[in-house]
Amino acid sequence: LDAVSVITTKRDGGELSDAQIDWVVDAFTRGIVADEQMSALAMAIVWRGMTRRETARWTAAMIGSGTRMDFTDLPRPTVDKHSTGGVGDKITLPLAPLVAACGAAVPQLSGRGLGHTGGTLDKLESIRGWQADVTVPRMREILADPAIGAVICAAGADLAPADKRLYALRDVTGTVESIPLIASSIMSKKIAEGTAALVLDVKVGSGAFLKTLDGARELATAMVELGRDAGVQTVALLTAMDTPLGRTAGNALEVAESVEVLAGGGPADVVELTLTLAREMVAQAGLRIDPADALADGRAMDHWRAMIQAQGGDPDAALPVARHSEIVRAESSGVLTRLDAMGVGVAAWRLGAGRARQGEQVQAGAGIEMHAKPGDSVVAGRPLLTLHTDTPEAFAGALSALTDAITIETGSEWKPGELILGR
Ligand code: URA
Repeated sequence: LDAVSVITTKRDGGELSDAQIDWVVDAFTRGIVADEQMSALAMAIVWRGMTRRETARWTAAMIGSGTRMDFTDLPRPTVDKHSTGGVGDKITLPLAPLVAACGAAVPQLSGRGLGHTGGTLDKLESIRGWQADVTVPRMREILADPAIGAVICAAGADLAPADKRLYALRDVTGTVESIPLIASSIMSKKIAEGTAALVLDVKVGSGAFLKTLDGARELATAMVELGRDAGVQTVALLTAMDTPLGRTAGNALEVAESVEVLAGGGPADVVELTLTLAREMVAQAGLRIDPADALADGRAMDHWRAMIQAQGGDPDAALPVARHSEIVRAESSGVLTRLDAMGVGVAAWRLGAGRARQGEQVQAGAGIEMHAKPGDSVVAGRPLLTLHTDTPEAFAGALSALTDAITIETGSEWKPGELILGR
């Protein structure tokens, strides 16, 4: 077997054999297949696609490049969720402790921001003292502790290392947008993390990787099949990502909003999606409890505090605030009919909530507060958004990302669309 024959098989529209897939993923992980060869193969896959069999084998090979964790000995059922990435998507923060409060164990291996989409670890790191790195034995202790039950941490180096290397290449070679590659990338990590059940939140719309319902449905189907084939009970929801979730995009801003949700308040869309996903997760775990009760009586908040403390964080510490802010005002009066997720995501990213380059520090306080959401009435001259940053030279770039992101209409009977688009 050699790299060129694998590349040309796919380039010419052929189906890769199990032996070819096993070999190329393993050889790439060990540095025998070069980055330029794997990039060429990724591009051939973008164009030619992969069959269900190839995608399943590819995923298994990526899992096999590292260690598959096993939490079957825990006294409680494990269940996790994964979002394909959006703007203002802080749902994991209230969701993981809420589901733990319902009696499940939630092993959440999370990532950092990618492009215009925020990262859960970046958000939690705005809490004083909180550490993203947790050893596997400590993960097990936290998950087994009935007062905590949830851990949100960085994936160790041994979790699907082939995906880590391949993802970095795809990011810089225009090969992210492929359903089999996205599905296998996400599912290799989620299967390797050892969860028994999984709920996928597949985002659709301007701020998502997939812009159409058909594309998102195809991705969701591919991921559900991969999960079930690997013995992980998997369901997927399709949810709207045309406008940001909630009223904040940015790291500390989103932590504050998540704490509001845990305290029984918070924006209606964040509460709706948190409870919808929690019900799916609790059902997958075979538990009979309504998450709305665990949210209302403060148990979810207790688990949040314990979860943050278990990773060295101080849940009572004041959150960082950016040094500079600027207000964007409504240009006319009427109904806000569009606040584009991509525009807001790119603006928050440029303000410092995300990274321009791999490995860069993010600003904890940077981001955007939204004073109105689509469907709300707005008045000319009143604040629509507040932009926050430590680096005021970033305002110009953020404002330019927002130029075409806002639509205000008069006299319209306009209503926002549904948040949950399918299951
Ligand atoms: N998230 C991932 O982990 N992988 C992808 O390919 C896309 C989004």
